[in-house]
Amino acid sequence: MPGKMPQKKILVLHGPNLNMLGKREPHIYGHESLAEINTGLQARGDQLGFEVETFQSNHEGAMVDKIQQAMGSCHGMIINPAAFTHTSVAIRDALAMLDIPVIEVHLSNIHKREPFRHQSMIADIAAARIAGFGSHGYMLGLEGLAKMLSK
Ligand code: DQA
Repeated sequence: MPGKMPQKKILVLHGPNLNMLGKREPHIYGHESLAEINTGLQARGDQLGFEVETFQSNHEGAMVDKIQQAMGSCHGMIINPAAFTHTSVAIRDALAMLDIPVIEVHLSNIHKREPFRHQSMIADIAAARIAGFGSHGYMLGLEGLAKMLSK
């Protein structure tokens, strides 16, 4: 039987406090919940031929573990490290081990905000960066990955 093409796997990683989306500072982060965002990503992933796995953690080590598990099993990654963006050498080091495109996404435009948010520990590791589009940034990330991985 001619098999279906195996789907490419994309891991979407959400960092601390993003489980509170919808309730958390909605004037900055919007009214959509993380579950709604993830459902939208699964649907768009289906259209693009991706298997999308989503994961959120408030814990740096749990995020590092998940990134390590992606080695050899994922074709691309979208990550919003949230506050860890600005602080985490551990997440940076874990991402640096991967040889897949990593897209850095932020809901808000971090460059329009407090100076401590202007620095990203992963900016020079990311294949591309998206900030300021709200939850639509994740969709743009998925579409960008589809283009990158089709080459
Ligand atoms: C964020 C921006 C970070 O500075 C902040 O700590 C977050 C969310 C964003 O998506 O805009 O938690 O990554």
